[in-house]
Amino acid sequence: MAAMTHADVSVPPDLDPFLLEHLDDPYPVYERLRDIGPVVHLPERNLWVVARYETVSAVLRDHRRFVSGLGSSYVRVAESGLRAPFIDNDPPEHTRIRRSVQQQFRRSTIEEMRPGIREVTEAHVDAAVAEGVIDVVTALTQPLPDLAIRQLTGITPPDTMTITSWADSVMHMVGPDADPIHFARVMEAFEWLGTTGLAGMPAHCLGRLIMEQGGDTGLLGDGEERLLTLGSIWLAGIDSTNSLMANAVHAFALFPQAWDAVRADPTLIPNAVEEVLRWDSPFRQFFRRTTEEVELTGVTIPADADVCAILPAANRDPVRFADPDVFDVTRADARQHVAFGASIHLCIGAPVARLEAVELLSALSTRVQRFELAGPAVRNPNREIRNFTSLPVRLVTDQDGRS
Ligand code: HEM
Repeated sequence: MAAMTHADVSVPPDLDPFLLEHLDDPYPVYERLRDIGPVVHLPERNLWVVARYETVSAVLRDHRRFVSGLGSSYVRVAESGLRAPFIDNDPPEHTRIRRSVQQQFRRSTIEEMRPGIREVTEAHVDAAVAEGVIDVVTALTQPLPDLAIRQLTGITPPDTMTITSWADSVMHMVGPDADPIHFARVMEAFEWLGTTGLAGMPAHCLGRLIMEQGGDTGLLGDGEERLLTLGSIWLAGIDSTNSLMANAVHAFALFPQAWDAVRADPTLIPNAVEEVLRWDSPFRQFFRRTTEEVELTGVTIPADADVCAILPAANRDPVRFADPDVFDVTRADARQHVAFGASIHLCIGAPVARLEAVELLSALSTRVQRFELAGPAVRNPNREIRNFTSLPVRLVTDQDGRS
């Protein structure tokens, strides 16, 4: 059979997942994109879209034919003028940069952060429970990633709101039609990091290892590459984990039986975190580009094409996950999700994000009987990440239940 071209696999404009009207609930569009074919083409944006688990995994794993070096976000490196050292590079550059810090993200090393993270998480959860009705975002899921990343990197930002706004701008900047304000904010973040941020770092920390020694291998290049490497880790860990943790509370508010199951058996918590990542994945998509014509599942993708891999759509693919729309904390294969990507660019910070989310759910599970939505859950209108601007929730405790 002859390979199909864009004319054969084009989808109508209303299936554009970047349309604002799809941001709150993108899953119906994802389902239609998956149903239409393993690879589809969006003519208005000249984008090749993969939404099935099989093709998303294939694109992420084939880093030779689907490269990151032209940019792994909607906006190409050539347009933004910004190359993120990890995600916007291919081997051998990517390998050199990743090896410079890889040891610092081993699970055993990250495990050392647990007591510190537990302490701040429990303090925040205690304060939230005392409040009763909280906005989960401002009370928990914005401050906690900031505190964890301070511990990981040694960087103390001016305050949580400022780092939240900087990290949010990164997510807007790399998407379509970005307001220039976001670019300016990211520049401001790096300027602050290069001056005040570095000066305030303690004697032994990841930040100093990167800046003063060029990482574990000493192979990080000049000051600018070091600053960008450190800055990438710093900013990548804020909004992403905020999203995971808020999506978790939201899911448990919608499905109280799942929360009952977690409270009855806290050993389910790590798997529950994986199920949240699968069921409501933080990142909407990552991009790859072709450098030559590529055939994928019978579809010919031309050279120099933009390929958009929709991670949450893959994570709801019924071919890979049984009853994918069901939020099931006991799902045996939840961890097979691609919310952290796959292969050489697999999220380096995944152990940190998992630790933070497990600690939050553990602290909540011993104190909160159920979550009740206490107002409209407002999603951030961001085309890169799926998080909340506001998530008002009443934390109902066992004592409340008795009164
Ligand atoms: C729930 C939270 C998080 C999610 C869902 C997430 C997701 C991802 C994904 C999907 C990628 C792959 C990008 C690609 O293939 O192009 C990635 C890469 C990366 N993440 Fe995360 N991330 C999270 C938390 C973190 C944290 C806490 C950090 C830092 C402490 C971090 C640092 C990075 C870095 C540096 C990369 C680039 C790795 C590489 O290209 O080799 N992430 N992340």
